Amino acid sequence: MTNSTPAGGSKPTTATLLIRSAGLSDLPEICAIEQASFPTPWSPRALREDIAREGTVYLVAELNGATVGYGGMWVYADEAHVGTLAVCAESRKDGVGTALMLSLLRRAAAYGAKMVVLEYRVSNTAAAGLYKKLGFGVNRIRKGYYQESGEDAVEAILFGLLGPEVRERLDAIKTDWERRHGGSFTETE
Ligand SMILES: CC(C)(COP(=O)(O)OP(=O)(O)OC[C@H]1O[C@@H](n2cnc3c(N)ncnc32)[C@H](O)[C@@H]1OP(=O)(O)O)[C@@H](O)C(=O)NCCC(=O)NCCS
Repeated sequence: MTNSTPAGGSKPTTATLLIRSAGLSDLPEICAIEQASFPTPWSPRALREDIAREGTVYLVAELNGATVGYGGMWVYADEAHVGTLAVCAESRKDGVGTALMLSLLRRAAAYGAKMVVLEYRVSNTAAAGLYKKLGFGVNRIRKGYYQESGEDAVEAILFGLLGPEVRERLDAIKTDWERRHGGSFTETE
C-alpha cells in the first residue's frame, strides 16, 4: 500500500491506503460495494439513515483515491457493535479489511468501549479468519439469524479492548501489516 518495496516479500505497489470517516457523499460507493458483497444488501435508504444516525461511526478505505471498502459500527455506553464491513472483490486479501478493523477498534477504544460485538455467517470463512486474527472469540451461534436463507450467525466478541493484552495484540497486527506492505496506512478523522 505504499511506494516502497515491502521487506516481507509481498508484491511492491505504488498505492497508498487511506482510512477516513465517511459522510453521505460516500453513499454511492458504499452502496456499490454493499450490493456486490452481500446476498441481501442494505438498501441505499437504510445505509443513508445508518450513516447519518448519531452514535454511528462509518469509515471508508481509499486506495489511490478510489473507495475500496467501508465499515460501520455503533458505540453505546461501554460497548461497540460492528454492523457492517466489506471490501470490493478486487482489493480483498491485501490487508484492507484489517486496516478498516484496526481503525474501527482504535476509535471504539477512544470512545471508551470495553467490548466489541459482531455477527457473521457461519459459512463466511474470510470474516471468521479476520476476526479471529484480531482476537474476537466465538460467543454463541444464533440459529437462523439470516432470514432470507435461514443461515446461522456466529456472534463473536472482543473483550478487554481497553486492556494491555488487546492493545499489544492490535499493535502487533499493525506492525505486521506495515512489514507486509512496506509502510503504514494513513488515518484521518
Ligand atoms: C471479510 C472481508 C471484509 C475481509 O477483507 P480483506 O481485505 O480481504 O481482509 P484482509 O486482507 O485484511 O485479511 C485479514 C485476514 O482475514 C482472513 N482472510 C481474508 N480473506 C480470507 C479468505 N478468503 N479465506 C480465509 N481467510 C481469509 C485471514 O486471516 C487474513 O489474515 P492473513 O492475511 O494474515 O492471512 C472481505 O472478504 C469481504 O468484504 N467479504 C465480503 C463481505 C463480508 O463478508 N463482510 C464481513 C461481514 S461480517
